[in-house]
Amino acid sequence: MIGVLVSGTGTNLQALLDARLPVTAVASNTAGVQALQRAERASVPAAVFPEKDYADRAERDEAMADWLDAHGVELVVCAGYMQLLSRGFLGRFPCLNVHPSLLPAFPGLDAVGQALEAGAKETGVTVHFLDEGVDTGPVIAQEPVAIEAGDTVESLHERLHAVEHRLLPEAVSLYLAGAISSRP
Ligand code: GRF
Repeated sequence: MIGVLVSGTGTNLQALLDARLPVTAVASNTAGVQALQRAERASVPAAVFPEKDYADRAERDEAMADWLDAHGVELVVCAGYMQLLSRGFLGRFPCLNVHPSLLPAFPGLDAVGQALEAGAKETGVTVHFLDEGVDTGPVIAQEPVAIEAGDTVESLHERLHAVEHRLLPEAVSLYLAGAISSRP
């Protein structure tokens, strides 16, 4: 059973739903985002856990973890979730993340802009286990994407998204099949 954490448009959540993976709960730190509408359309229970409603991020993460637990979640997938997870949360579930670069290159915010700014010839997509760092943790799958002359953040991100929508469901399926045994 998968819990998906989202903060934005949720196209990767949609890819997991379209792949008929067992998504049983969707949680967000931000109300009103498109990803929550996707959960609603798919009749998947969804909840919002804004940090400002709690004493600190650790307390928010504990409430979110309790809610995911109550929905039978065994694996957490961060799909465009824009906050770091606290140690307590990471200790309760294996957590996967999808990131639009070939990590360890271009971690953090605006990975696509960073790759263009650096004049890189290629970038790509990484699916990895999460630890407490920013886009660190053992890599599960990576796929390169060539950067073309005249690429903008939008055009490059569109090609990266297409790869993400295939690579993330594949990696999650492998994990659920027991083909990826480790967690950090
Ligand atoms: C993706 O590019 C993902 O790699 C990054 O945030 C973006 C989320 O897109 N972590 P979406 O919300 O799944 O459409």
